[in-house]
Amino acid sequence: MHTKQKWSFSPSDHSQVTINSAALLTLGAALIHFAVVPEHLQEYLLFGIFFIAVGLAQVALAFRLFTAPSRQLLVAALVSTVALVALWVLSRTTGLPIGPEPWKPEDMGVPDIICIVLEVVSILIFLVLLLPKRRPVVRRLGRMIAGTIPVVVLVGLLTSVGVESATNAMPVAFNASPPIPGQPSTSLTSLVAPPGPQPVKNFTLTAQVKQINGQQAWTYNGTVPGPELRVTQGDRVRVTLINHLPVSTTIHWHGVDVPNAEDGVAGLTQDAVAPGGTFVYDFIANDVGTYWYHSHQDTANQIPQGLFGAFIVEPPSGHVAQAHDYTVMLHLDQSGTRATVNGVTSGGDLHLDARPGETVRLRLVNAVAPGMDGGPEAPVLLGAPYQIVALDGHDLSGPQLLGPERIPLGIGQRADLVFTMPAHGAVRLIDTNLPGEASAFQSFLGVPFSTNETVTIGTGAIPTAPAPKRVPLFDETHYGTPTTDAVAAGPFGGTYPVVLDEGPGFHGGRPDLVHSINGQATPYVPPITVHLGEIVRLHIVNRTGEFHPIHIHGHIFSVLAMNGSPISGSPLHLDTVLVGPHETADVAFLANNPGIWMLHCHVLMHAAEGMSMTINYVGITTPFEMGSRSGNMPE
Ligand code: C2O
Ligand code: CU
Repeated sequence: MHTKQKWSFSPSDHSQVTINSAALLTLGAALIHFAVVPEHLQEYLLFGIFFIAVGLAQVALAFRLFTAPSRQLLVAALVSTVALVALWVLSRTTGLPIGPEPWKPEDMGVPDIICIVLEVVSILIFLVLLLPKRRPVVRRLGRMIAGTIPVVVLVGLLTSVGVESATNAMPVAFNASPPIPGQPSTSLTSLVAPPGPQPVKNFTLTAQVKQINGQQAWTYNGTVPGPELRVTQGDRVRVTLINHLPVSTTIHWHGVDVPNAEDGVAGLTQDAVAPGGTFVYDFIANDVGTYWYHSHQDTANQIPQGLFGAFIVEPPSGHVAQAHDYTVMLHLDQSGTRATVNGVTSGGDLHLDARPGETVRLRLVNAVAPGMDGGPEAPVLLGAPYQIVALDGHDLSGPQLLGPERIPLGIGQRADLVFTMPAHGAVRLIDTNLPGEASAFQSFLGVPFSTNETVTIGTGAIPTAPAPKRVPLFDETHYGTPTTDAVAAGPFGGTYPVVLDEGPGFHGGRPDLVHSINGQATPYVPPITVHLGEIVRLHIVNRTGEFHPIHIHGHIFSVLAMNGSPISGSPLHLDTVLVGPHETADVAFLANNPGIWMLHCHVLMHAAEGMSMTINYVGITTPFEMGSRSGNMPE
């Protein structure tokens, strides 16, 4: 027995299956390295080049392992793979001395964890192969193939998850409409309200942390909802946002057709305002109605934390026609579970004053962040006949008197109710909700919906509430009387499908439930490109069992048809159209407000999972970017 034999190596000494496995693992790691190249090129040129080099080296190594394994090759493979893993550990713990942020540990993600697992297993195999073998293993083709198949399947699966995650990573920097060199363009930063003689209404909203009922809230000026801002049509509204939160934030004016630079979308129309920073929003309140404002940075988190409030534009006379004008904002408390109205949590009934014979206007705003089914609230007014005089702030023509009906309101939608107080007794609003298919199933299983909240107007006997299921559903498609609607009449510059889907996929760098539009998730949904002055038609198709309230920024939808049947009552002018499970909606809007505008589902989780896109005016660009580099995250 001489040492020479102990240190020799030839493929027949070892099962080729083991060698092939190491080669496959190396190949998998190489593919993941290639998949992260674009991201790293964007971040730092050298990193990108490094990953190309590593990927190529690993492909070469895998090839040599398959074809001509040798002892030297195994030693080289072992050393280099250990070095790679060590480098990774360094980058995730102390950080690297070079790059955009030297000595800052990087975050771990699905792709790099999978890659490291593949490499560590390959290291173990290289070690085993280098150990002296007592018994030579004979190669047999059948056994070799049978042994390799499970490895191929496992490594293939892991690699594809790693590659998909990497190619669907949260972008380092994504610009929704970058300037193209050599092409004339207008930056949306110039799209502001021109100076004018309008009376100015100044407000200051300080975003700040506040304890409310023993729970931490993010608030405007210390309250949830934030202060109601009331202005008169034609006012110039100037709102100073002061950010005292530990995170960056913005304010978006939901339903108000502001100039694009005032729209408050982080990474699209501005950079999110950093802690300690301020931002002044300045726009003209052109349209009377009930609107609301809320953060549009990390929206899925910041709205439920409490960053929202009502925004009311009164007619030029300075007051509404009714004796009482109340805003009723439906939302959840800080725990995210209990129904709340204007900050009054369920259990406590919200009382509003009114005397017999007086007229009352209730401005219902739905700010309830729903569950995954996106189910709308469905408030019911009892005790007096009423009219729904406006939806999403826009007056309806010839609204008839209604009895108790459940009025479906998706998150973001508003309804203005007007009624006269009866001679005797109180009027009561109860909030029920409409479940999507998932929740309907839950209720079938006996899981209750969220608790109902009530508002009592006036004093005296309280009308008894019928079982919600027996109350008819309000149907907006043939309520009121038809009148001309220039936008609905067309002609249309183009019709675009907006197909809503939901299912497992990859988003934000990991396997996730994905909500998509036209097969893509934000920010990769191809935008709809429009020209100033054209009327654009959208055909919205909901292929899910959920509700999707689809919201457009900076414009107003004219609803053309729901589920294929045309609107037969009052024209419907909405900024948020509620599309129920497996329903369709046809809407049109006049492209009269240049900019880059969001079109998204207002179910906060759906938007965060990808159901968001933009409408880009030709020739308008933005200097702002979303992604990890800027920290702008509009959803
Ligand atoms: Cu209520 Cu994109 O917003
Ligand atoms: Cu949705």
